[in-house]
Amino acid sequence: MDMQRPAGTVASIMQEDRLFPPPAEFSARARIGSMEDYSRLYAEVARDPQAFWHSRAQSLPWMTPYSSVLDWKPPHAEWFVGGRTNASAACLDQHINAGRGDKTALVWVGEPTGERREYTYSQLHAEVCRCAAGLRSLGIRPGEVVSIYMPMTPELVIAMLACARIGAVHSVIFGGFSSEAIADRNADAQAVAVITADGGWRRGAQLALKKNVDVALTKSPSVRHVVVLRRTGQAIDMVPGRDVWWHDLVAGMPTDTPAEPMDSEAPLFILYTSGSTGKPKGIKHTTAGYILWAKTTAEWVFDLRDDDLFWCTADCGWITGHSYVTYGPLAAGASILIYEGAPNAPHEGRFWEIIEQEKPTIFYTAPTAIRSFMKWGMEHIEGRDLSSLRLLGTVGEGINPEAWMWYHEVIGGKRCPIVDTWWQTETGGIMMSPLPGCTPTKPGSCTLPLPGVMPEIVDASGAPVRPGEGGWLVITHPWPGMLRGIWGDEARFEETYWSRVPGKYLAGDNARQDADGYYWIMGRIDDVLNVAGHRLSTIEIESALVSHPLVAEAAAVGRPHDVKGEAVAVFVTLQSGQADEATKDLLRRHVRQQIGALAVPDDIHFAAILPKTRSGKIMRRLLRDIAAGRETVGDTTTLEDYSSLAALRANDE
Ligand code: WT7
Repeated sequence: MDMQRPAGTVASIMQEDRLFPPPAEFSARARIGSMEDYSRLYAEVARDPQAFWHSRAQSLPWMTPYSSVLDWKPPHAEWFVGGRTNASAACLDQHINAGRGDKTALVWVGEPTGERREYTYSQLHAEVCRCAAGLRSLGIRPGEVVSIYMPMTPELVIAMLACARIGAVHSVIFGGFSSEAIADRNADAQAVAVITADGGWRRGAQLALKKNVDVALTKSPSVRHVVVLRRTGQAIDMVPGRDVWWHDLVAGMPTDTPAEPMDSEAPLFILYTSGSTGKPKGIKHTTAGYILWAKTTAEWVFDLRDDDLFWCTADCGWITGHSYVTYGPLAAGASILIYEGAPNAPHEGRFWEIIEQEKPTIFYTAPTAIRSFMKWGMEHIEGRDLSSLRLLGTVGEGINPEAWMWYHEVIGGKRCPIVDTWWQTETGGIMMSPLPGCTPTKPGSCTLPLPGVMPEIVDASGAPVRPGEGGWLVITHPWPGMLRGIWGDEARFEETYWSRVPGKYLAGDNARQDADGYYWIMGRIDDVLNVAGHRLSTIEIESALVSHPLVAEAAAVGRPHDVKGEAVAVFVTLQSGQADEATKDLLRRHVRQQIGALAVPDDIHFAAILPKTRSGKIMRRLLRDIAAGRETVGDTTTLEDYSSLAALRANDE
């Protein structure tokens, strides 16, 4: 332990010197084609952000003009004050009005081989209008919340845009979450309707989506309607008066439903994400600023051109699926590719087969996926034609240099720049990333902030750290895509993001800047794990475990995992029952039912007692070391019961 280090700072042990300049032919055609252009733009926005965003905002369809660009009363920002616009009009009508209705908007590939659909902007608009009219016919009003729990089908994107069109606030719940998680989210948001499907395909099996919704709704009194897409055809129950089939709802509905003029600051969506307490936070994003941020960052980072086909592999259940499957690229008028299923269904070369067939030009995925591809082996890639690709991206966690190099060489054929994009559910869109036509990249670094993003690295007193030192990453100025709050919990919003470093946005990540000013993200500062690019709170997992009658006490920590980045390890003290495999199975099933498959612990350690400090805090650092199989370092003299440590070790042998 380095005792000289100021509180809140972190030592860095990573050294990476390789530098990859953008290919000359890429730069020649890029929007931002040199570091001079980037620096000029960055300085322009920094000098007068309001003038810059005012000029960018002219590209949105305004139904009522705004009276001022920004009203910033920390921590509350209002962008484009008093204006009215509509996110679905920005994504659809605008392109049709500009004569681009026949351009491909969306290509969809289903998990069952051979299933494929394509929509032009006009066709997508028509489907969104029919769905919007259907939702309106159910009496759903602007400002009411609609939960969406669907597989990755075109209808998921259509449902989001249809909500936006009528001013309803969508809350997309990832299809891997359990009925408990749906019920919690419905209750927190007071959702009035749920849009779901009978089921969805996942590695050839059928997910029981409607069944999960039915269970959730026994605890969701606010929900009046359920709209059900027929996807798999599996048997489900329909509750008369409450449930309606999607195809029945939209039948005969108009294909020109007008878009509701929405205040710039009207909520567009809520997205629940894990924080450092047991209760997920409903991150609130609003209309105009979010759309402008998603669109502008998509154009900058992916250098979108008219002939691009953009494949972002994220599910719409996550923020990446909101900003870079749906709103960003569609507002930019791009063509998007979406795929319904798992990357290894029916075989481990499915992604490369899709690239060969659909010829996307941009591919944006997560480091955990890349590590899986590496593991699955070259035989699934050799012989596949990936030459359509011109740009690669990653998001969700830091990418280890080895995976970066593999991505660069094997998938990118050494010709595609890689954009390692750092951002969060809360930031609405990408904050730091290389710009592919100008920024020389270093494997593992998200490089530099986008124009309009003002990062700083500080210690616990809020003072900037010394050059090269790690510390807390904060953002010092408002940006259009920033979160506007936590749904229904102002105190938590202020406490989580704005109190520890007053007046600055605390991202919750540690970071450092190297001698070139490049940023390196060093992991979370709170009790949040990053498992396969998804945020999980340790306390959520602990609460789930403790809610089981056999469990007296539980502690969850992360340990390194070669594919998922982090795996969940839990330490459990039993109330009763046997410390055996059967109990482990029971507890795993319980966590799956409480939260969902993504939170199921990889390792379960039983312990007679958990190591605690004198004040009763569980010694997580110690547990992390045990979980990782590392030798415990540091000061353990404050252990309440030193023998508990020895007992845990012995159990592992
Ligand atoms: C957390 C946000 C942003 C969409 C997906 C995750 C980590 C994200 C990177 C990156 C290093 C990254 C951070 C961040 N993270 N991208 N390129 N390099 N870390 O969204 O669930 O809101 O999680 O993911 O820790 O705070 P999220």
